[in-house]
Amino acid sequence: MDIIIEELKGSHRDIAWSFREAEDSDHLLNSYIDLGRVWVSVTAAGETVGHLQAVPRDGRVWEVTNTAVLESRRGRGVGRALLARAVDEARAAGMNRVVLATATADIGNLRFYQRCGFRMTHIVQDVFGPAQGYPAGLEVDGIPLRDQVWFELAC
Ligand SMILES: CC(C)(COP(=O)(O)OP(=O)(O)OC[C@H]1O[C@@H](n2cnc3c(N)ncnc32)[C@H](O)[C@@H]1OP(=O)(O)O)[C@@H](O)C(=O)NCCC(=O)NCCS
Repeated sequence: MDIIIEELKGSHRDIAWSFREAEDSDHLLNSYIDLGRVWVSVTAAGETVGHLQAVPRDGRVWEVTNTAVLESRRGRGVGRALLARAVDEARAAGMNRVVLATATADIGNLRFYQRCGFRMTHIVQDVFGPAQGYPAGLEVDGIPLRDQVWFELAC
């Protein structure tokens, strides 16, 4: 696919629709959407088809807090290209690690991040629930949305 990746110049909220592809809690999204830096993948026709947000954490660490690709454009390397760009930018900014978390229930994401070179570090239980702003009873492929798994990649 003919896409370029560029840093988003305007408000992150201009592409809130894309953030929502990866975040079921509006409350939580509102608390972090303005943080850090965002890169977007854009087609030759100027259509935004994906994004990635990275936020500095303690030490020489960036966290990828939200990333998504438009459903009709998935499976063609856009997500991998966004992650690779984030790792390149982290290295250029003097970081030595990129970390991120996803739901243990989302088997597809577990494959995606490992295919992109990330390694699992630890699991945090009961992160996704009504107390955190997630609707009760959410499932991914029949697995309750409940626990969170963290990944890292040295850069
Ligand atoms: C996760 C996501 C960003 C991946 O983007 P993408 O453009 O489809 O990913 P790519 O095409 O670059 O895939 C890279 C590799 O991961 C694999 N992969 C990506 N998504 C996958 C999935 N859902 N299930 C299994 N494998 C997957 C691809 O098959 C590819 O592997 P390959 O090298 O063996 O072919 C996209 O599926 C998405 O937007 N999902 C919804 C939002 C979301 O869950 N975001 C992450 C929140 S933590």
